[in-house]
Amino acid sequence: MAEVLKLADELVFTQTGKHLDYLQEAILQGTLDGRTYAKIAEETYASEGHVRDMGAELWKVLSEGLGKEVSKANFKAILNSNYSAILSDNARFTNLNICPEHRSETSQVPKSHSTPAQPHLDLENAPEIFNFYGRTQELATLDLAIVCDRSRLVTILGFGGIGKTTLALRLVGQIQPHFQYVIYRSLRFYSDLSAILANLLHIFAPDATIPDRIETQISQLLNHLRQSRCLIVLDDIQIPGNGKLTGEDSTVYENYRLFFKAIAEVTHQSCVIAIAAEQSSAIPTSKQPNYPVTSLVLHGLCDAAKEILALQNLADAETWDKLIHLYHGNPLWLEFTATSIRELFAGRVAEFLTYDTPIVWEPLQAQLDRQYQRLTLPEQTAISQLATAIYPLTFAQLLNLTQFSPPEFFKVMQSLERRFFVEIQEREGVTQFVLNPVLREYAKSRGE
Ligand SMILES: Nc1ncnc2c1ncn2[C@@H]1O[C@H](COP(=O)(O)OP(=O)(O)O)[C@@H](O)[C@H]1O
Ligand SMILES: [Mg+2]
Repeated sequence: MAEVLKLADELVFTQTGKHLDYLQEAILQGTLDGRTYAKIAEETYASEGHVRDMGAELWKVLSEGLGKEVSKANFKAILNSNYSAILSDNARFTNLNICPEHRSETSQVPKSHSTPAQPHLDLENAPEIFNFYGRTQELATLDLAIVCDRSRLVTILGFGGIGKTTLALRLVGQIQPHFQYVIYRSLRFYSDLSAILANLLHIFAPDATIPDRIETQISQLLNHLRQSRCLIVLDDIQIPGNGKLTGEDSTVYENYRLFFKAIAEVTHQSCVIAIAAEQSSAIPTSKQPNYPVTSLVLHGLCDAAKEILALQNLADAETWDKLIHLYHGNPLWLEFTATSIRELFAGRVAEFLTYDTPIVWEPLQAQLDRQYQRLTLPEQTAISQLATAIYPLTFAQLLNLTQFSPPEFFKVMQSLERRFFVEIQEREGVTQFVLNPVLREYAKSRGE
């Protein structure tokens, strides 16, 4: 099978000067495996119409390359019967690689596909990834968005501990050969945006003087992002809220807004991955087709979380689904819980689950404290009122329960949703709120 794909790649390369991209490869592989366009579209998160159009274009190129009519129906048979003959006819069909390269990288002269040079790697303060489970779909989506679709800005959002940093670093390991510079920075170690921009400019031009104005810093960085293909991960971004900001907060917000808008909208060949535990209107989201921004909200792990429990040698595997559900599939929460179950119950999950409510262990408490402290006072009040309710609740039921006026209430709930503290779900045409069991127990334990 791999041989057939290699041959198709070379044929396409000879005709167009471009290697197969991710979608073309998926169409060919899907065709070889007997899948329909609809199925291939589903697997690649593309529209069926787009997959069909890409398929038609691909068959045309292959037909021209082979000098005979190729279609989805006969592709497998034709290439299977021909590839050895073609291989012996054409010395150039040896030593091929399938590399999903960007569609707009038009080099009309076919060139040998050498291994890219090692990128300049600068992963200051990046945590080491010891284990990595699941997240296959998320990795595929991000790989496609960055390598093939050339998103200039990618956001990875989600509650603390859900696995944003781990996923981003795993992705970096996977796609770094496509870049000349690969940089990771946690904004936790920098006083503000200007300090991080100065640090980044220093990497590209160690001897240059760093300008004072943030607009000039952004503009100089964009120059570097145009000259080289860079991947920059900015982790732990915290931007002041979206309400009426005054004084220093409004300047901080405005600087971030300017920076992210420039990264998304000014032409360059690089990608910034922005990681944050809350959505901010200062960071653009993918609002229209072809807008070079990809946003991913990370949810808990499902089956893959079992590996975390297995690693801690927990018992009663038949009850693990319940435990994972109780802790919302949050890998950090599950790590803490697995350790405690091992220490207190000798690993017997079933015995622990007889208590039915999640326990907010000491390290978990500390982690939640840090996130809770970022909430505004009305948000903290709303959370403690929500903690005592029976779930799920509709807007109207919740409004009754809290002491907010409707406009205040909607603002507070929207903000809590943007911080991933509450989930808003649609059920049978009714909007419902869910505060997950761990946060409910945490809020109750604060007793405010
Ligand atoms: N896919 C994963 N497989 C295994 N462990 C994971 C995975 N994602 C996260 N973890 C673990 O969960 C913890 C929190 O992950 P992290 O990436 O730091 O979360 P976040 O950046 O969202 O706060 C880490 O200790 C990490 O080892
Ligand atoms: Mg993190």
